[in-house]
Amino acid sequence: MTLPVYVQGAWFLGAALFIFGLKGMSSPASARKGIVVAGYGMLVAIAATFLIPGLQNLALMALALALGGSAAWISGKKVKMTDMPQMVAIYNGMGGGAAAAIAAIEFAKGDAHSLATTVLAVIGALIGAVSFTGSCVAWAKLQGVLKKAHRLPAQNAVNVVLALIAIGLGGAMVLMAPAQPELIFGFFAVALVLGLIVTLPIGGADMPVVISLFNAFTGLAVGFEGYVLGNPALIIAGIVVGAAGTLLTQLMAKAMNRPISNILFTPMVASGPGEAISGSMKELSALDAAAMMRYASKVIIVPGYGMAVAHAQHKVWEMTSILEEAGVEVKFAIHPVAGRMPGHMNVLLAEAGVPYDKIFDLDEVNGEFGQADVALIIGANDVVNPSARTDKASPIYGMPILNADQAQNVIVIKRGKGTGYSGVENALFYTDNCRMLYGDAQPMAGEIIQHLKAMG
Ligand code: TAP
Repeated sequence: MTLPVYVQGAWFLGAALFIFGLKGMSSPASARKGIVVAGYGMLVAIAATFLIPGLQNLALMALALALGGSAAWISGKKVKMTDMPQMVAIYNGMGGGAAAAIAAIEFAKGDAHSLATTVLAVIGALIGAVSFTGSCVAWAKLQGVLKKAHRLPAQNAVNVVLALIAIGLGGAMVLMAPAQPELIFGFFAVALVLGLIVTLPIGGADMPVVISLFNAFTGLAVGFEGYVLGNPALIIAGIVVGAAGTLLTQLMAKAMNRPISNILFTPMVASGPGEAISGSMKELSALDAAAMMRYASKVIIVPGYGMAVAHAQHKVWEMTSILEEAGVEVKFAIHPVAGRMPGHMNVLLAEAGVPYDKIFDLDEVNGEFGQADVALIIGANDVVNPSARTDKASPIYGMPILNADQAQNVIVIKRGKGTGYSGVENALFYTDNCRMLYGDAQPMAGEIIQHLKAMG
């Protein structure tokens, strides 16, 4: 069916808005605007869909939109910043599931399609179904519903066999089109189980990378199903999401120095007893921390997951402003995988009002720690762990880290002796130039502020 020009034009407009939106999201300064622009794109694309002549089940479509839209609105309003990764996981899973469901309906209708369209529908269905169940597992792990990694004996062989069966059944659906319901059912059942089996053994620390990979999968699946439905807005949106997800996955894997194959198929565990750590953890008071920074010429702040948990970003910015007024140069050093999602720290600091020219990436700032009087680490751990450079047995070996240990003095704010996400001990905390300021990051930053103010 040839669609009216106004529908096609509106979809084109929607797709263009997605691309402008994505461009906006490439910088923290314009990210909020980018999200709103992409949201308008979605609104235009959905509204245009209702204008397709001869549509049936309009009431059901409206009901589905109302249910989905209100669930997303309420959960979006309520979600905590630290729970964002699992929210992304579940929304992404819904996208993959929707793409697979579109394909299932097309197969069930049994309409004649060209060979190319059927092939794309099958590939989209396979990827979408894997992404759906995989993302649900990712959500359950990050939400703490699934606490353990479940590894089967000969896990990788099981993965390969299941993938081959799914591909074989998909091939049969192409050759026997229109396929019998049993074949369609079997194909989807195996694809859904494949998503579960591949994701269950992956540890929580690797989940953000896996979510990003499934995000890329979902994009591809949506793009393929857009082709099946002849919907250019879906094709463009799918390709954009697929490409962005792929780049993000690569970026995160590189920042953790782990190939994607390693993340998917090898558990993240120590490969031996590891290097012995000598020395002891030495405490200091908030007053001493304030004095050290007040009389420093250069302070580099390294925020991590703990700053997000404590919602300490506003206090940290207040402390920074006081230090700057006293003539101290302050910079923020951001590791690409600090926190639990890409750009986690940038978003929090931007929310607190920290100007972007004070925020530096690992490559930009790593050479400056040697000239810093103080490196203040707030709720970060793995991203400053020097054993990543030297300890071949460590699960984070090879991950580029921020050179906080090269600063003249290191102050670490954390609640206790807890390890970071990777579960490994941090040799930095035991070094001679490092002092621990134990406590929740927010009240601790507050105490430092009080002392700084008293110092005038
Ligand atoms: P982590 O290594 O997870 O360390 C966070 C530290 O914050 C913990 O040692 C914890 O110690 C402390 N903490 C927790 N709550 C706190 C609070 N309320 N106040 C003060 N401190 C608190 O964080 P990181 O250095 O940001 O590293 C991120 C980790 O996540 C890396 O291993 C990275 O590979 C992994 N990861 C990240 C991503 C992305 S995209 N960001 C993706 C995949 C994996 P206490 O319990 O003693 O307080």
